[in-house]
Amino acid sequence: MKIVTIVGARPQFIKAATLSRLTRQNRDVTEILVHTGQHYDNNMSEVFFRELGIPEPDYNLGVGSGTHAEQTGAMLVGIEKILLTEKPDITLVYGDTNSTVAGALAAAKLNIPLAHVEAGLRSFNRAMPEEINRIITDRIAQILFAPTQTAADNLAREGLGGITRLSGDVMYDSVLFYKARILSDPGKYQTPGIPADYLLATIHRAENTDHPGNLQNIFRALSNINGMVILPIHPRTRKIVRSSVTLPANVNIIDPVGYLEMMKLTMDARKVLTDSGGLQKEAYFLGKQCITLRTETEWVETLHDHWNIITGSDPILIQQAVETALPSAPAINAFGDGKSADFILQQLIGF
Ligand code: UD1
Ligand code: UDP
Repeated sequence: MKIVTIVGARPQFIKAATLSRLTRQNRDVTEILVHTGQHYDNNMSEVFFRELGIPEPDYNLGVGSGTHAEQTGAMLVGIEKILLTEKPDITLVYGDTNSTVAGALAAAKLNIPLAHVEAGLRSFNRAMPEEINRIITDRIAQILFAPTQTAADNLAREGLGGITRLSGDVMYDSVLFYKARILSDPGKYQTPGIPADYLLATIHRAENTDHPGNLQNIFRALSNINGMVILPIHPRTRKIVRSSVTLPANVNIIDPVGYLEMMKLTMDARKVLTDSGGLQKEAYFLGKQCITLRTETEWVETLHDHWNIITGSDPILIQQAVETALPSAPAINAFGDGKSADFILQQLIGF
């Protein structure tokens, strides 16, 4: 069987790594990897291929940045050509980026079966480009892998229960796999120059970066935190910070780091503040309290017992969340058994 996998953005390299590793070990499956080029800086792309042992992409479309239409349109044209050449049995897409929806549309129009990993996530906020991308992708796919029961329920409500498989979360597989590697040689993954006590922050979502007032509010809240904040900065945010935000003295901006370094930074942090989808879950998997700099989350399983606190960009709510006691109740595992990728691969083979 031949699978064409489409990836393009940082979180997709991480999600694809686990399943690609298994796929390449299986003689019955050939995987053709397509990188759209949505993310292209070394520390947003190449570092993940190198450190997670993801094979070189068979195709790199080199699409780069642009408006939603420019970016998605260029990907559609490129992916269609590849699908016509490769004639796969299944096209596989991950998550909710422009690369996801482009891969989905190109496959669906060619009547190639489409599988969606991380299906059924909903913020119920259509102002988010990601919400549009995932609704469309789920609607036109033939097999939907829901990471959580909530996601499966969302799909059932949309009439898609018949093609949904509750798979667990490949990001949970990944944290279990790489956590063991980090613990076996922690010094190797230590970011240089990081203090013993710090909060870890990431910010990149449009709702924060495209509204300088929101970003300014977040930085104001960070400036009131007692202690250092380490902020590996997404290139999108770097641009805005350069032009319109005053950087507080306690915020230490660093370049984006690789996945293993990021996991080590998370493991050692006092708390995590983020608008990232992936990092909210990783904080939860690693037993760190997360403050979510958005007005809602798709990962509602993380909200119990203040493991994850929703603040948006409100400085008062952020301050209160930073001061909230750490949870005493354990995190509940609602993300599978760490073998989601095995399950997904078996389902694809049996499709
Ligand atoms: C994209 C996804 C978002 C995901 C995020 C993961 C969409 C609509 N959004 O957002 O869901 O959470 O990836 O990180 O698909 N840039 C660089 N170098 C790079 C990549 C981006 O400089 O390697 C800059 C460019 O100025 C670009 C901006 O970042 O315009 C935004 O990049 P883009 O891929 O359009 O969206 P993200 O914000 O990364
Ligand atoms: N990440 C990383 N280096 C960084 C920042 C994040 O490896 O400097 C990882 C993070 O650990 C998580 C993934 O990138 O696995 C999340 O990607 P991102 O926040 O860009 O996108 P989202 O998950 O919000 O779509």
